[in-house]
Amino acid sequence: MIVRPRRLRRTATLRRLVQETAVSAADFIYPLFVIPGQSRRLPVASMPGVEQRTIDQALLLARQAWEVGIGAVILFGIPEQKDATGSEAYREDGLVQRAIAALKQELPELLVIADACFCEYTDHGHCGVLQGHDVDNDATLELLARAAVSYAAAGADIIAPSGMMDGMVTTIRTALDRHDYTQVAILSYAAKYASAFYGPFRDAAGSTPQFGDRRSYQMDSANRREALREVALDIEQGADMVMVKPALAYLDIVRDVRNRFDVPLVAYNVSGEYAMLKAAAAQGWIDGPRVMMETLTAFKRAGADLIITYHAIEAAQLLLPRTFP
Ligand code: PBG
Repeated sequence: MIVRPRRLRRTATLRRLVQETAVSAADFIYPLFVIPGQSRRLPVASMPGVEQRTIDQALLLARQAWEVGIGAVILFGIPEQKDATGSEAYREDGLVQRAIAALKQELPELLVIADACFCEYTDHGHCGVLQGHDVDNDATLELLARAAVSYAAAGADIIAPSGMMDGMVTTIRTALDRHDYTQVAILSYAAKYASAFYGPFRDAAGSTPQFGDRRSYQMDSANRREALREVALDIEQGADMVMVKPALAYLDIVRDVRNRFDVPLVAYNVSGEYAMLKAAAAQGWIDGPRVMMETLTAFKRAGADLIITYHAIEAAQLLLPRTFP
């Protein structure tokens, strides 16, 4: 007798019945880039469809995301003033703090995730305070604690440290608790690789390092066991959720983390992944929407619960009507 797996692929209804993985708008986290001023939108050349927006314009986009079923946004601020310590990152009335407050006022149920890092705020573009030509881990932690508390005070639901500093989760958890923000969660960029896939983001966020690179704090892309160690450390320190970043070239890491740990797992579908897809689609070389959905499904199949993606609104719109087939 021939075994016939094709039997269950015969019709669209059958295929839907036996489908193992589903992507939904509730899985998406949408990144917002906030700039100072009023009524301004600046397209990011290397990321078609992505714009830097002033707070008022970012609110419109957040509303659009909410209306198609997206439950969370992650905020990146691009301040006018940069300095050696990135002081705009922890100023009480800084750009991101004001954006958080505006979002929570306008759309109270939409979850606001504050990315906590210094590369957008320092004049040298590194993710912390410098000591010579290297980032001083413990000096950076002190400022990170201040930044996290200022985001929580502004109303952030989740703090997402992305600088790959050792001890960042403990530091932030302790600071939040000391200020009575015990309900504010931490999403740690636990396994973040030093990756060339971040290129377009650095245009969007104006965060390219002025010298050197991030290899002394972000992970070597060749390493797998080290990712598990980083994730274990962050969970021990109190991370509520962990992230693997980038996503597409690191699906093995997503699967490893899923197999080993039980906290919610986020995959970051980074700027370079988005740019490649958009560029090929614009040339007519691939079917953009189909490759997008296939990619997003792959993240979930690999074990991610949530996906940070610039495709979020587009993908949610495709998923919306739930028309069948
Ligand atoms: C900040 C940060 C980066 C990204 C998210 N947060 C850039 C970097 O580490 O250089 C990259 C996001 C993307 O490429 O989409 N530390």
